[in-house]
Amino acid sequence: MIKTIEWTDGGIRLLDQTKLPTEEVYVTCHTWEEVADAIKKMIVRGAPAIGVAAAMGIALGARDADAGHVAELRREFDHICEEMAETRPTAVNLFWAIRRMREKFEQCSEMPVERIRQELIAEAQRMFVEDLAVNEAISKHGATLLPSSGAVLTHCNAGALATAGGYGTALGVIRVAVESGKKLTVYADETRPFLQGSRLTAWELMKDGIPTTVISDNMAGAMMRQGKIQAAVVGADRVAANGDVANKIGTYTVAVLAKEHGIPFYVAAPWSSVDMECPDGEHIPIEQRSAREVTHVGATRIAPEGVQIENPAFDVTPARYVTAIITERGIARAPYTESLKRLAETAMAV
Ligand code: MRU
Repeated sequence: MIKTIEWTDGGIRLLDQTKLPTEEVYVTCHTWEEVADAIKKMIVRGAPAIGVAAAMGIALGARDADAGHVAELRREFDHICEEMAETRPTAVNLFWAIRRMREKFEQCSEMPVERIRQELIAEAQRMFVEDLAVNEAISKHGATLLPSSGAVLTHCNAGALATAGGYGTALGVIRVAVESGKKLTVYADETRPFLQGSRLTAWELMKDGIPTTVISDNMAGAMMRQGKIQAAVVGADRVAANGDVANKIGTYTVAVLAKEHGIPFYVAAPWSSVDMECPDGEHIPIEQRSAREVTHVGATRIAPEGVQIENPAFDVTPARYVTAIITERGIARAPYTESLKRLAETAMAV
């Protein structure tokens, strides 16, 4: 299994995703500040992975906080949670994870300091284990939707690297479909500018022996027109209550193209990516990242110095383009306002 994130007594061990696919190296974050920095720099990335890493970072910070009394621990804990919340704004899993850690602190606040620290570590580790189970459930639900043969397009990386590990979400759907005997190949959009598709998705799927073809993002339309793509499946950073989906920049383009060509467009996401307090995509904050991600590939400049750059890291796909949203609680279809509300009331079935 790909070890994306691991709690060790020495710190949080992360597979450095900025170095893949050429180098498979791990970094150990010894402090919560290093974890926050790793999230910002995308050493660890992908909505569920960000959530689990943040929870572990908070637990690490609480473990090592210089606090003799609960009030002192709480002060430091609050500070860490606030700083973690500033790392990346779009993936709601980050805020879900912070809220869960805060709730755990409240539940334990009458306990001795050492016990609170232990409880927070246990909660972060539980979130890790749960994420693996959630991904497996999503994958099993989603696999039933894919055709028995053909090619599936995916965008960005929504695999083991984007989660605690294991199946991943969108890639999990493909993995389980292949395991169940479906004859599928994958088209991986390279996913400019950070190249999660060519660097990470292709790396993951090749490890599994799933036939994968990398295409540059602007090739997807032509491939669809030529009948080479039978379904699209992507992950999500935040699903609004009306079914609008924020995901990696370029997802919207894929969804519009899929609709034009009559190809189903599926979103696979854990319930922790669903934000029922967010009415629609207009209310989802979109992270703007550094211009350098666009002007450079590695160390090489590919745009003239001084030119204006925009780099929104995510876009919003309106619900009308989404064929189904696959979660561990089941599959939601339009009208999403109703189907997501129904799933919100469903106890998690994993
Ligand atoms: O900027 P990133 O690499 O963190 O963006 C990741 C994505 O957009 C993924 O598709 C999404 O987080 C789902 S991961 C299961």
